[in-house]
Order: sequence, then structure tokens, then C-alpha cells
Amino acid sequence: MTKEKCKPLTNYTYPNLVWQNGRIPIAQKFDDPYYSLDNGLEEVRHVFLNGNKLPQRLKDGFKIAELGFGTGLNFLSTLWQWRLKKQKGKLSFTSFETFPMKPEDMVKAQNEFVELSSIKHEFSSLWIELLEKGVLYGRDYNLQLILGDARRTIKNVDIKANCWFLDGFSPAKNPELWEEELLNEVYRCTANKGTLSTYSAAGIVRRNLSLAGFEVERTKGFGRKRHMTIAIKKS
Ligand SMILES: C[S@@+](CC[C@H](N)C(=O)[O-])C[C@H]1O[C@@H](n2cnc3c(N)ncnc32)[C@H](O)[C@@H]1O
Repeated sequence: MTKEKCKPLTNYTYPNLVWQNGRIPIAQKFDDPYYSLDNGLEEVRHVFLNGNKLPQRLKDGFKIAELGFGTGLNFLSTLWQWRLKKQKGKLSFTSFETFPMKPEDMVKAQNEFVELSSIKHEFSSLWIELLEKGVLYGRDYNLQLILGDARRTIKNVDIKANCWFLDGFSPAKNPELWEEELLNEVYRCTANKGTLSTYSAAGIVRRNLSLAGFEVERTKGFGRKRHMTIAIKKS
């Protein structure tokens, strides 16, 4: 947990959303969907869970950090994987978000994913508490949401994450979340042998990750995307 642990979260700006086919949220400001139009859950599994070899690596105290909390789908999918594995102990998940969704919009977006039904119902009444307190402590997880522009808020954070999910909107539409200076901070907040993954294989992303110090690899992407990026910190 970080220095911002106990700070109450107020004054947030909700995103303006349009719903594609009434189901998939698109942030008007960025003109980009929150998850793959092909199959959001399968994309999370391919890019973030398998991209970081999480089914094999999850263990008590494992720390994940994320840029872009959005609908909470990545968090729910990871906890779902944790429980599927009957993993003992606690998962630590810290996410950065500047435009938190309204709890009812998160629930609506999650409705898309039938497989997550038990877990999403468990959290549907907890999102408001997460927004108000910035933290949720469960029997098998600690979830922290750090509100504000990640480029600023990450500077006050002193975690060493075992794994990062880089999940901003596309670099062309949301370049702030892929800037060199921010990715340097991500590197600082990564444990030795920590990994990261992102659905993006844009040259600027791979270049900025390399400049930060990560060993970067381009691998097979999900759905219509030919490639994605994984990286590791070896120091
Ligand atoms: C593709 S969505 C994330 C999807 C999310 N991981 C999920 O599971 O639904 C990108 C997110 O990044 C957030 N974002 C964009 N710019 C940001 C910034 N400068 N700091 C923090 N979050 C930002 C957006 O508000 C949005 O929620």
C-alpha cells in the first residue's frame, strides 16, 4: 500500500460515455472503448493474465498495479483467476484512474461478462465505497484506487509491483498514459523480475519502455491486433 492509503477521495469527474450496441462503454473524450469489441474478457486473459503468466505466478502477497481502472474488468478477472486457483492469502491490486466511472456504469459494463457473475455481484455494492475511501479490504484481496492523473499521482507512490497492467486508451488517443516520464515511474515502481503487459504494440510504447529500462518483447496480440507488448525488469 502507498502513502496515499488513507486519503479520502472526493471531487472526481465522471467520464461521458456512449454505449456501443447498448453494451460496450466508449469514453467520448478519448473516442475509444474500455475493452475489446471482440471479447473483452478473452482479451484480458490473453493480454494481462497470460501475458504476465499470472496463472503460474500468483501467490500470497503478489502485487499488481494498473494504469487505467476503467470498468474494473481487469481487477475482477484477476481475482477470478486467483479464486479459480484456490490461492491462499491476499492479492494486492493498486490502480490509477483519473476519470472513475459511476458505479452503476461499472455494473452495466460488467453485465456483459456472464462468467464473472458471482464475483461481479459481490462487488456491485462496493464500488461506491471504493470511490469514497480509495481502498477495499477483502478476505483475499486489498484493492487501492488512486484517483487523479497518473503522471502526477504515481510520484507519491512507493510500491514495488510484481506485475503491471498498462491499460490506457490507445496511445494515439491517450498519449498522456504512455509518456516516457510516466513509464520511468512505472519502472521505479516495479520489483526486480517484475513484468508488464499491454495490448498495444505501438513503436512509441515499446521505445519508452526500453528507455525506462525494461527488456521489451513483441508477442502475438488478441483478436484483430496482430501484436501486443510484454516486458520485464531485470536489474
Ligand atoms: C482502456 S480504459 C481501462 C480499462 C480498464 N482497465 C478495465 O478493466 O475496464 C483506460 C482508462 O485510463 C484512464 N485514464 C486516461 N488517462 C489517464 C491518466 N492520465 N491518468 C489516469 N488514468 C487515465 C481512463 O479514464 C480509462 O478509465
